[in-house]
Amino acid sequence: MSDECKTTGFTPQQVARWPNVHKHLCGTLELPTLDSVSEEVILNIGEGIEAMLKSEGPTPKQLKARAGLFRHLKRTLEHRFKNAELQQFGSSQSGLTLQAGDLDLCLQFKGDIPAKALRQVNRILKQHDMEDIVMLPRAKVPIIKFKDERTKIPVDISINNTLALHNTELLKRYSACDERIRSVILAVKHWANRRDVSDAASGTFSSYAWTLLAVQALQQTTPPVAPVLQEGQERSMVEVEGTTYDLTMREVDSITMDPKNNQSLGELFVEFIFKYAASWPFKDQVVSVRTGSPVTRKSKKWKHATPKAEKAVLMEKKTRLGQHSLPIEDPFDLKHDLSRVLRPAGALDIQEEFIRACLAMGDGGRWDAIVEAKNPERFVPVAEFDLFEDLRKKSKEEVATLLSENATAIEALDERMNALTEERKHNVRMSRALRGTIEDTTELRNELRTIVRTLRPRSKEMDKLQTTRDEINKRIGLPLYRIEELLTDVYKQLTGEIDLFQVPSLRREEDQFSWFFELQAMHAEATKAQEAHKAFIALLKEQKDAVRSLKANEKEQQKHKAELLESEPMLKDMDLNFSDAMQFDKKAHKLLKVIDQRRTELRRLRREKGRLDAWVRISSNPSRSSNRHGNKGGGKRGGGQKRTKSGSADWKPRNNGPRPEDVQQRAASGGTLSLTDLDVLLNSGGLSTVTKKQPSPKASRRQERKKKVNARNLTPHRGERSQSRKGRKD
Ligand code: CTP
Ligand code: MG
Repeated sequence: MSDECKTTGFTPQQVARWPNVHKHLCGTLELPTLDSVSEEVILNIGEGIEAMLKSEGPTPKQLKARAGLFRHLKRTLEHRFKNAELQQFGSSQSGLTLQAGDLDLCLQFKGDIPAKALRQVNRILKQHDMEDIVMLPRAKVPIIKFKDERTKIPVDISINNTLALHNTELLKRYSACDERIRSVILAVKHWANRRDVSDAASGTFSSYAWTLLAVQALQQTTPPVAPVLQEGQERSMVEVEGTTYDLTMREVDSITMDPKNNQSLGELFVEFIFKYAASWPFKDQVVSVRTGSPVTRKSKKWKHATPKAEKAVLMEKKTRLGQHSLPIEDPFDLKHDLSRVLRPAGALDIQEEFIRACLAMGDGGRWDAIVEAKNPERFVPVAEFDLFEDLRKKSKEEVATLLSENATAIEALDERMNALTEERKHNVRMSRALRGTIEDTTELRNELRTIVRTLRPRSKEMDKLQTTRDEINKRIGLPLYRIEELLTDVYKQLTGEIDLFQVPSLRREEDQFSWFFELQAMHAEATKAQEAHKAFIALLKEQKDAVRSLKANEKEQQKHKAELLESEPMLKDMDLNFSDAMQFDKKAHKLLKVIDQRRTELRRLRREKGRLDAWVRISSNPSRSSNRHGNKGGGKRGGGQKRTKSGSADWKPRNNGPRPEDVQQRAASGGTLSLTDLDVLLNSGGLSTVTKKQPSPKASRRQERKKKVNARNLTPHRGERSQSRKGRKD
């Protein structure tokens, strides 16, 4: 007997996964009304959101790590692509970020995008030890996803994602309109993430789509909390990548919401859930932040194509969801439906979560229950990372041994890298030389081929002529001139005056006539033989000329080869052909891969050296050491206190943030200062220090160099310092 539901066709597992959607499809689902949600629930949800905003917002340390990672990637990629700028967008720019958010970056090219740009980025990221790199070159906007090995921050880099920069600005403006807009968006993103329905890659909505759903709900409250930022008389039409878009966006300052909505955060979140759970606008509408209220599917010509989610999940696993399943219009790219990424199961998951939250709210459910993690293992806090954990138990001598082993390994690897680089250069050089000479001699070789091609047919023709001539000559036995002499004689005899005393007999006259005709036939044949002979002689001359040209051509090629051998003696036994050049290319390519691996190894070793050096420095300074590991960092000497991330000796990359001297100098010279600069300035003695006498440029340069050297010796460091100088050269 089949276990499948008679009405929906769902298997028991599917019913267990989507119990409420199943009830809804069977017509047995009863949703609570908005009015039935108690005040207490609303209050609790509001408080829950406030608490979540505090606990889930990015910590200063995380923000700093993101900023550091961005700087590092910017420096690296802009160094590689001179006509590009790496820009941030997404939540880190719109202010709508939580700890779970990723870092969205965009490589904007001024002018042409270089061929295989994404692959080049991939290679650079690999060299810089990024993890889990995934390329999506065929996505609407080419994108590469990865994680930073050290901080584990997830990053997306897209190429020329101009519209995203604009829609980020739009979201930033929305969140600046009213604090509650930002809070509700973050609450929605948090809820969707905890309930596993916020991952475009696995077939649910992207964070961006959830943000738009939240904004639309806030535009729809009575009175609206969120304005419609894209309305206005004056339109701003902008061409992006060959298409014109309406990028009109009102200034936040110009907006007054009258009458003002006074609903609480809790009320707004509850309304958001009820709006989508109960009325399910996607049935015949399209969510549209641009207009402030959903527009009809008909007006957009976005018919819900089959199969719909509840049918598609019954089909083969790979069955794709019909287009425009839960349509959300992109605010600027009006043809882009954000539900494009949904998979059948994902679409049902989303509906299930709306209904689940709605039922929970009607049932007095608390915030914690509503946002309870569906897969708690995804949210297990990552153990605090102690950069020096293994070293804390080691004696000074042991650390010194590690350092010396590390130095030996670096030296050995450096040498190996040198050898590999040389070998690769040699292969590249050989290939280039070979290809160069091949190109130089192309014409000669073509000419040679043409000459050679004529030799054989000509020779055949000559043989034929020779045979014709010889056969005729053999048959006739008399040369042409002799036949002509005889013909003349016989003709004279037959036509000359007759000597009356010697009148030839009739028989003799008959013989002479027949001899005459025979000679005539022989003459025709002998003429043919002579023509064949003449043609043979002409061809013989041509053949001799061709052989002469052949020799000259070969000589010329030999000259080129001699020149090549002079520059590359190792090509002695090579023929001038492309397959040899390709062998060198292949070898060079293989070597490049090995070099890349070795370079990564070398970078690791160098980083390890930095870490060991830093530990030696920290552990040899008892005050720093006890301060960092005793009071804050915990660890062995930490008096039993919890070890925080600063168990990593509160270690900070030196390179983070501007240096006080630089800021002071800039302030003194009247340059512009950012908030961070001001912070640094105040922490380093305030503005009074600015007026102090500046050291001479020469002295300050010397000081600068000294500091750089010191800085190099102290701490592990991201970026330039960890790169092999030799590696960087090529
Ligand atoms: N974006 C887009 N079109 C999409 C998805 C994303 O234009 N289909 C752009 C938007 O500019 C969005 C940015 O990519 O702001 C980042 O998307 P996403 O990471 O999904 O949203 P965030 O707001 O950054 O959310 P999170 O904090 O979770 O990373
Ligand atoms: Mg993001």
